[in-house]
Amino acid sequence: MNHAQLRVPKIAAFRTIIRSLPFLIDNPKGDGNMKRWIVSAGSTSERGLVMQEVARPEPGAGEVLVRVDAVSLNARDQLLLRGTFGVSPRDFVPVSDGAGEIVAIGAGVEGWAVGDKVTGIFHRNWTDGPPTQGQGWGLGSPDDDGMLAEYVVLRAERVAAAPKKLTPEEAACLPCAALTAWTALNGDRPYRNPVRKGDKVLATGTGTVALFSVLFAKAVGAAVVVTTSRDGKSAQSRALGASDIINYKTHPNWGEVAFERSEGFQRVVNAGGGGELDQSIAALAPSGEIALMGLYAQASAPPNLVALMMKGASIRGTSVGSAMAHRDMVDFVDTHGIKPPIAKAFAMSDVPAAYELAASGEAFGKVVIRVAGAG
Ligand SMILES: NC(=O)c1ccc[n+]([C@@H]2O[C@H](COP(=O)([O-])OP(=O)(O)OC[C@H]3O[C@@H](n4cnc5c(N)ncnc54)[C@H](OP(=O)(O)O)[C@@H]3O)[C@@H](O)[C@H]2O)c1
Repeated sequence: MNHAQLRVPKIAAFRTIIRSLPFLIDNPKGDGNMKRWIVSAGSTSERGLVMQEVARPEPGAGEVLVRVDAVSLNARDQLLLRGTFGVSPRDFVPVSDGAGEIVAIGAGVEGWAVGDKVTGIFHRNWTDGPPTQGQGWGLGSPDDDGMLAEYVVLRAERVAAAPKKLTPEEAACLPCAALTAWTALNGDRPYRNPVRKGDKVLATGTGTVALFSVLFAKAVGAAVVVTTSRDGKSAQSRALGASDIINYKTHPNWGEVAFERSEGFQRVVNAGGGGELDQSIAALAPSGEIALMGLYAQASAPPNLVALMMKGASIRGTSVGSAMAHRDMVDFVDTHGIKPPIAKAFAMSDVPAAYELAASGEAFGKVVIRVAGAG
């Protein structure tokens, strides 16, 4: 560790203390203020979360101002708060997933009107096809301010119409976990090998990516099995549409167990991580595919590539999805009447408690924060 790295937590702690003093700074008086939360520069723990009152932003050319109604948390929000990918050199507004209403439009914006209900789009510079490598870390990261604010300014191409039949809280569940599940099941556009009616899908864990995988796969007529470490989540998983549940703690060979019960899966949505690849391969049917996005279980050894070869199977990395894929997913949600599962909705003042529940693994469904009217 170099000197610069050693100094960051101290500076961060100092800033956090200063910012925690109730609104002594960043609190311009008068109309036009708003509340927001930031992750402080150098944050490595929940102490980095700080609420501020700041001036409401104005949209510039090519931008829209969105009044945020609700946001939802994802696993990555914990990683970014704790500096798992490297501590942030700057304060940033966290959280990728938010829904609200356009309340002002900057010069030159076409296709959007005041009053439109929208969500943010996770990645920048990724309109269609496979990842561009210029898409960044997504909304709510050190290089891209997010949605945990009463008002946010977004580039016009960075918003998508919210599903017509969902509440703002439900719409706020879609941009990251749901789109990741969509991409896991369909691939990137054009969709060459989507999960189809009659396919079998295995989704690992009952995190939110897995739960959206259940909903989307079930809607096309596929059968979905989930794994969990908590038997208490079995009934909820069945109610959502899972046809079978396997406890991955009491069955460390859950992939083999799943294969024996099903004769193999066309798709494994691996939300666990590289450490789960061998069991994911064991679960696959010939020519099956693992969509890999999980970061929980790190691999301690290379995967069983011979088993992968013998099945003619493949592993595909999954990175949320493109703007066009997001729009396809929204159409699908509307067409099939998909209802995002919400575990609990918190008030804007209770953001640390929302992060705590999301980190606990106890929640079944999305952890939501109501932003509008935080006043
Ligand atoms: N690459 C990408 O673009 C991308 C996008 C989204 C998410 N992700 C990653 O995908 C993973 C899931 O995201 P999420 O939003 O669904 O997370 P989440 O909602 O926070 O998931 C929490 C659940 O994950 C399950 N879990 C934890 N450790 C596990 C393990 N070793 N094996 C299997 N399941 C495990 C647990 O399920 P049970 O309680 O049922 O045991 C836990 O309740 C995370 O690692 C996240 O960082 C990656």
